[in-house]
Amino acid sequence: MNPDRPDNASISPAEFYEAQEDISTNPSTAPTLGDVIQQRFSRRDLLRGALGVSALGVLAASPLAALAAAAEAAGNSETDSDARIKDATETTRFAFTEIAHGVDKTHHVAPGYTAEVLMRWGDPLLPGAPAFDPGGQSPAAQSAQFGYNNDFIGYIPLPPGSKNAEHGLLCVNHEYTNPEVMFPVPSSAAVGEPSLAEAEIQLAAHGGSILEIRRKDGRWHVVRESPYARRITALATEILLSGPAAGHQRLQTQADPTGTRVIGTLGNCAGGITPWDTWLMAEENFHAYFGGDLDDDHPEQANYIRCGIPSSRYGLNRVIERFDINAEPREANRFGWLVEVDPLEPVSTPIKRTALGRFKHEGAESVINGDGRLVIYSGDDQRFEHLYRFVSNDKVNPNDRAANRNLLDSGILSVARFNDDGSLDWLPLVHGQGLLTAENGFASQADVLIEARRAATLLGATPMDRPEDVEPNPVNGRVYVMLTNNSKRGNDGRPGTDTANPRANNIWGHVLELVPKDGDHAADQANWEILIRAGNPNDPGTAAEWNPATSENGWFACPDNCAVDASGRLWVATDQGKNWQQASGTADGVWALETEGAGRGTGRMFFRVPVGAEMCGPRFTPDDRTLFVAVQHPATDGTKDFPGFERVSTFEDPATRWPDFKAGMPPRPSVVVITKDDGGEIGS
Ligand code: FEO
Ligand code: CA
Ligand code: CA
Ligand code: CA
Repeated sequence: MNPDRPDNASISPAEFYEAQEDISTNPSTAPTLGDVIQQRFSRRDLLRGALGVSALGVLAASPLAALAAAAEAAGNSETDSDARIKDATETTRFAFTEIAHGVDKTHHVAPGYTAEVLMRWGDPLLPGAPAFDPGGQSPAAQSAQFGYNNDFIGYIPLPPGSKNAEHGLLCVNHEYTNPEVMFPVPSSAAVGEPSLAEAEIQLAAHGGSILEIRRKDGRWHVVRESPYARRITALATEILLSGPAAGHQRLQTQADPTGTRVIGTLGNCAGGITPWDTWLMAEENFHAYFGGDLDDDHPEQANYIRCGIPSSRYGLNRVIERFDINAEPREANRFGWLVEVDPLEPVSTPIKRTALGRFKHEGAESVINGDGRLVIYSGDDQRFEHLYRFVSNDKVNPNDRAANRNLLDSGILSVARFNDDGSLDWLPLVHGQGLLTAENGFASQADVLIEARRAATLLGATPMDRPEDVEPNPVNGRVYVMLTNNSKRGNDGRPGTDTANPRANNIWGHVLELVPKDGDHAADQANWEILIRAGNPNDPGTAAEWNPATSENGWFACPDNCAVDASGRLWVATDQGKNWQQASGTADGVWALETEGAGRGTGRMFFRVPVGAEMCGPRFTPDDRTLFVAVQHPATDGTKDFPGFERVSTFEDPATRWPDFKAGMPPRPSVVVITKDDGGEIGS
């Protein structure tokens, strides 16, 4: 039994999904590091005392505290918002007029920029695909149309290997579906009782899409009848399993006794593009698709409870046997991996790379290390889960794409332990080392990878405040970690605060900066700092921490996806979920966040999504002149708090009909393309 399973009838489907992502299934009662935070506070007090800035009581030890202190010491404690905006313009590398916090039925972008919808859920993608017909959906139509809930966006220039910023392939993840606003009545899909057709439509709306796009006369459009156009779905796409766990008994099913072939990919959240232009799709909330009820003594029971299985979210198990863990108890072990896709080879078979471990992978951004090996960072997005890193055994071959084909099948997966002194240890998940032995239930490396979470916790990895996107910055050599929120520290015997996760009721999240030792991403150690603590800096109750130059619109809550542009500047996208009113009172969006110099820790608001949506996928073209963003699940999250609407959206009665605003047309997750009206670089 899953004690965390919510009652599907008592909450909205959007709330159900949010709750699932939020639940902690890490049973660890690892030390709270209370003594450790005391040490850190001592360091803070020292800084505060030395600078004589006791008024800065909410700031922890960091460069931001020093900046604020220096400003105050110099008598420059200006808090007027105009002055702060002026400061931000002078001290950051971002030059745009920021937009205001707010919430309404449509999107907004900074003045001087144009944001156009490029591709919507249901738009025809493959040759012969029918036009979108919300009242006449079918699995076949959806399999040829753009999928639901666009999340990660990758851009691969064409021709391959070029830096062309006006012609390329967009690789877009489709993370999940919102049946409550997808299907007209009569439909019971929204309460987890889909018909077979509704189940298959939703599976076809998951996965990913590859679009060929081109910029002509300044405007982007999708190339129709492209040979690259492709849909990858959870319904029908065959995917190989490779690496140390491939073929293992725990991955074998009745339909696939070899344990090497699986139909579909699920929960494709963020991801990455490798240096050889393949696409990594991260399988995040794979648990939401499996129902049933294993016996307590079933060998997979503990593994599944740790992942949140079973879940009644979609009710797929009612109509499709492989999603019933009683009928097929190992199918769920075939999800939760990173999937590598070659968009330049449209008939290639995607591959789940098991060497990178099985957990709720948020993303998979990579960097070529100084020694030529590939390093991939990946967060496990759930309360009290961990931050991971993979280092390939072999070097990337920059001159021969094919030589990198199986690079991701061998390497070392490690997990992060954050220390009180601002250092971090990467703990290798290698069978036979330390506690990862048969006595602890790990008979092989396959077991370690399949139950990466349990292995990581055994090694003493730090339970984090929901690690989302992790982005290496190739310009400054650092790594940015989005920690979205966690309001349960110290509750019900769960771990308390620690130095890297310093707020107990952290409904706002924070951003960490990792500094690899000697610039070596493969080193056993790194150092870290908190870049910002999100939330309203003008509300002492938040203990938020920003550069004082941040305006009343420049702060945000719940960092989720992020992007580093070609000049090394950080952009953060947010996902507050149903708690948006409590966390910030503004809709989600994209903020510029300075990481360098006197402006370090200054945020500026650039783009805002319509009500109920989440901001995903920020991706720049190589020339920084185009920014693609993914508006996910418009009209769903937290619409009970949308003034004037104040109810749960349905297909017939959504909080917004963005982006079409036509009667009868439901809200549609869409990719939006942003360009500067003068043709220049975004944010400059
Ligand atoms: Fe799919 Fe953790 O966002
Ligand atoms: Ca997200
Ligand atoms: Ca990213
Ligand atoms: Ca999120």
